[in-house]
Amino acid sequence: MISYAGIANPFGTGTYSVEMNSKLLRRYRYIHEQLFFCAAGQLPARENWHLKAALGKHLYEDAEAAGSLRRRIQELRTSPMLLQKQPNVTLALLFEELIHARSDLELLVGVYRVVKPALLKAVTQHMTDTQQLVDYPTVRLLKALSSDLREQIAWGEGMIETLQQEGESLELAAEFENRITGYLDAAGGISGEQGTSTHVPARWRSGKVYEMPKQAIRDVKKMGTPTMGRTAVPNLPEDPLKIRLIGMMKARQEEMSAVENLASVIYDQKLMPWEFYEDLARHLWDEVRHALFGQAALEAEGIDWMSLRQYVGGYDPLIEKLPAQRYALLSIGFEEKAMRRPGKIAEYEFCRDEAKHPLMERFQDYDWADEVTHAAFGRKWTPELFGEDLDYVRQVADVELAEREKLFQAWAKQQETGTQ
Ligand SMILES: [Fe+2]
Ligand SMILES: [Fe+2]
Repeated sequence: MISYAGIANPFGTGTYSVEMNSKLLRRYRYIHEQLFFCAAGQLPARENWHLKAALGKHLYEDAEAAGSLRRRIQELRTSPMLLQKQPNVTLALLFEELIHARSDLELLVGVYRVVKPALLKAVTQHMTDTQQLVDYPTVRLLKALSSDLREQIAWGEGMIETLQQEGESLELAAEFENRITGYLDAAGGISGEQGTSTHVPARWRSGKVYEMPKQAIRDVKKMGTPTMGRTAVPNLPEDPLKIRLIGMMKARQEEMSAVENLASVIYDQKLMPWEFYEDLARHLWDEVRHALFGQAALEAEGIDWMSLRQYVGGYDPLIEKLPAQRYALLSIGFEEKAMRRPGKIAEYEFCRDEAKHPLMERFQDYDWADEVTHAAFGRKWTPELFGEDLDYVRQVADVELAEREKLFQAWAKQQETGTQ
């Protein structure tokens, strides 16, 4: 269509007033935010490596979706104050229960079979029902987020199928699926279109507040045992270049531990401006990509990285600390320092000039670029979290680094005596 800039049906009045539109978008906003916090809270507790990676991608997409909805809602004569509110008590209960998923399968069915498909259906309907010309900004943003949702749901279905083929019984997640569906129905559905039930459902598992696990979980059926120390790839040829190169690939794959640390900061650090969560979601997804490029580089070399021991030292020793400390250690203690030589530049130059490994050269080039952003995020948010200036935070990060060094030395010593 040439007229109306290609926008179809400009004459239909559409279903939603500005007020109604804002109300619905606030529900979608809330749901994306809750899915985001749920994925962050669950990520270190989940076993399956591929699930951890996808949770990182999807929580980043949920954070971006919530951010764009927030911006649109404020264009609809809506006070930013209303963006802090939960739209409905039963909807809130649904997410308080969802985060209590106790297995990979429970989380998968709850998110990818119940909540996300219902959300996709609601936003698809919204795009059709709204006045196409005047509400084009909403249509455009829903188009983008529904395309993400469609890919996420397809991935989730594939993952559920894979787990079933590996012998897991869907029966074990059936009650969880039914409960979550029940909460959603009682909340009147995603848009509240069914009307909220006056029979408010009872709590199930959420009487106890969800807490981050004290230890990051690894899939013991498929992976080597978790370890606090850095791991090496055994039986490499005695070539220092090769040893350093493969070591770098393994170190990147181990960045899942940084992912889990960031997930804990997101979940435990309450009441920050949304921009903080969007930045950390981006940071987290970058670290997932670093872990995945480590994985890809190792697999391209034919190295079975999964059966090796799995590093969790970026999460386990930190989880009892304040989120501000966990974030300062990573972003200021490690990432800001990596901006100085040798740091990230030397890793990139090594891959390019010495190892002459085109895939790792490409990976490390972007890794370095990502880390510049992460250090900037750290400088932006850590003073905010501590209520102190950056100089103070840098000193805190140094204290944390020194403490960590001692802890790891003690751990290494213990390993030595334990194996003698
Ligand atoms: Fe990284
Ligand atoms: Fe980083």
